[in-house]
Formats: sequence, C-alpha cells, structure tokens
Amino acid sequence: MENAYNIKKDAVQVEAVSELGLNPFPWYEEMRKNDPIHFNEKLNAWELFRYNDILEVVKHPEIYSSRRSRSGDPAMAIQSGGNLLMTDPPRHRQLRSLVTQAFTPRTIAQMSGRIIEIVDSLLQKGRETGHMDLIADLAYPLPVIVISEMLGIPPEERDSFKAWSDLIVSPSYADLERGRKELRAYFQNVLQQRKQHLQDDLVSGLLQANVDGEPLQETEILDFCELLLVAGNETTTNLIGNAGLCFDEYPEAAREIREDISLLPSAIEEVLRFRSPVQRFGRTVVVDTELDGRQLKVGQRVFCWIGAANRDPAQFPDPGSFNIRRTPNRHLAFGQGIHFCLGAPLARLETKLAFERLFHTFKDIQFQRDVPLEPISSFFGYGVEHLLVQVQNA
Ligand code: HEM
Repeated sequence: MENAYNIKKDAVQVEAVSELGLNPFPWYEEMRKNDPIHFNEKLNAWELFRYNDILEVVKHPEIYSSRRSRSGDPAMAIQSGGNLLMTDPPRHRQLRSLVTQAFTPRTIAQMSGRIIEIVDSLLQKGRETGHMDLIADLAYPLPVIVISEMLGIPPEERDSFKAWSDLIVSPSYADLERGRKELRAYFQNVLQQRKQHLQDDLVSGLLQANVDGEPLQETEILDFCELLLVAGNETTTNLIGNAGLCFDEYPEAAREIREDISLLPSAIEEVLRFRSPVQRFGRTVVVDTELDGRQLKVGQRVFCWIGAANRDPAQFPDPGSFNIRRTPNRHLAFGQGIHFCLGAPLARLETKLAFERLFHTFKDIQFQRDVPLEPISSFFGYGVEHLLVQVQNA
C-alpha cells in the first residue's frame, strides 16, 4: 500500500487538492516549517499551514469573508449564491438559525435506527459474495440515501439525484453548471409540491422555518438543498473511506476497536484529524490586514490547509502517529467558528454506525493490497475512488 502514495514535486502551485496525491503530508510539513504563510502568485492567494493562523482567520469573518467561495476553487467563485457557507454576518446568522431549526442534533440522533437498516442493506453484497468495494457499495450510497430520505426524495429518483450532486463537485466547470441547473429544476418542482402538501421532511421544515416572522426565500431554500448535497455527500463518503484506509494501515487499532467498540467515536475523530476529508477551505480578504508580519490585501484569497493544521506539532503532540485515544483532539476537519459544519453530527453518526455494523457483520475484513489506490479527483477533498475488501461473515 505504501508505494501507492505519491507526492507531486512542484505542488506549491496546487489548484485541486487531488493533484497532491494521497500523501500531501510531507509537503505540508515542509511548508509549515519553511513558509507557513505562503503567497501563491499564480492564484493571488495566501496559503496557510499552521493551526493558529487558520484559527485567526475563522475567528474574524469581518476581515476574512466567506462570500466568494467555499473551497477555493475558481469555478465555485463564480456561483457564489446566497448559500450559508458563502455568506457573512449578519445574514449568515439569520440563515443559520433558520436551517438549524430543521436540522437539529436531536433530529439526527433519532435517525440511528433507519441508518442501521440502510447500512445493513448495503452490507448484503459482502455477506453474499465475500467481497465489497467499501466506497462503491457502502461509503458512496450511504450519505446520499440518508440525505435523500431527509429531503423526501423517493427512492426511484435517487440515482439521478446522486448523479447531479456528483456533477456539482466535479472539477469540470461545464459539468458543474449542468449539475446545478438540473438539480435546481428538480428541487423547484419538489418545492412546489411541498407548498401544496407539507410533509414530514426537511424541505417542508425549511418552508415553515422563520426568524421574527420572516421565512426563507424560495431561492434560499434551493441554495440550501444544493449546499447539503455538495457539503454532505462526498465528504461523508471520504470520511468512511478514509477510516477504512486508516484501519488498513493500522490493523492494531482496528483490532482494539473490535474488542472495545466504545473506542470507535474517538477513533473517528482521529481519522478526521489524520486524513481529513476536506483538506482546505477558502476565504477572501475584505479589509487590508496583517498576519504574523505578512501584509494581506483586499481581494486576495486565503486558503486554509486543514490537512496541514491537523498535523501541526504545536497543537498535536506526535502528529504523524494515528492514536485512536488522542485527547484532546481539537482538529479542524469540520472547520471552526460561525461556519462550523452543520452536518458534523450526521457525518459522525453515519460513520460510527457504518463501522459498528461492518465489525458486527464480518469477523474479518482484509484489504486487497494488490489494487493500487486511486485518489479522488477533487478541488478540496481527500479520499480514494475504491477500497476493495474481502470479508468473512461473523
Ligand atoms: C461546513 C466539513 C459533512 C453540511 C463545513 C465546513 C467544513 C466541513 C470544513 C466549514 C467550511 C468553511 O468554514 O468554509 C465537512 C466534513 C464532513 C461534512 C469533513 C464529513 C465528514 C457534512 C454533512 C452535511 C454538511 C453530512 C449536511 C448534510 C455543511 C453545511 C456547512 C458545512 C451546511 C456550512 C455551515 C455554515 O456556513 O454555517 N463542513 N462536512 N457537512 N457543512 Fe460540512
């Protein structure tokens, strides 16, 4: 497996995260040591590699705005609609309080039973054939089924729904635009239907949510539905896949978790730190400012490398070791501050239940090492396309 990791040499000009391959960590370390606040001329952007610098950025939305882009990719910059992730206070606060009404941790916790049923149905193939692709057969469909059900999308429409959400995170701008258009048209339809007959789903909840009697605009509901797909699907797929990668690389950790399943939540936190599904997010400087002696100018972009911050030795002792009992573990995998990931409880729950059921269902899971690992193609995400395993029923 080791030789499947490769690092690109001149990665300083990186545009899409996937250009870095599956081992960006030596590059991060080099940058953190030698040029932690790096100016990328080609992108007119600052790239930050230290934990504390990134905290400084997320604490000051009045200086570092989210308005232009979520992840730092140029394509996203063009379509900065009114969605939560791309707004600043005071509008951000209003939007966030509206959507949290429909997306509370309590609602999420109540979903456990249904998530277990979905996971079990996805493990059926492994039970019958003795092998699975942890990505294609589990990590990929799970979040999309869950979010489709939350949004009230009928099962027969799930495939096209997933296809659009994939197009939206595609590095190809043409695909991205096509995905957005089709998805929006679809949701417009759903919205009209729900307006006539409210149901017990998220879209209906959003239609009814209000702050001081002020409801969400229709375009804001559409923006939010789109955001849930973009922010929630690929990321959760990658978290489950990256947990698989870590458990393959550290079989002793997997063994310990099997013996004491109560270790699973802190192991998942360590996966989030060690192989962060989102490697960076972006901001735009809206007030000239200084950061550790560097002058940042209005209009410049700032890329916060979460993947690097999460291995900053100033914050995490022995950052290169995978320690499933690490405490504290204040990783930045879900961001920090006002934009802290709204879906974190859901992503954590899906991943926990996925591995609880995997370990319960199969007494042995062997990763197929003869198949080279292929990084996903993504602007901001870290994960693999496939993760083939052989399984033995318990
Ligand atoms: C925000 C990561 C899963 C919905 C964020 C941010 C990060 C992140 C880093 C902050 C970005 C920034 O500050 O610019 C992740 C990771 C996930 C995950 C690593 C999985 C392991 C989900 C899921 C959902 C979701 C499942 C919803 C279904 C959101 C939303 C925001 C957000 C709505 C914007 C919050 C705001 O702007 O106030 N996520 N996310 N995420 N995430 Fe997640």
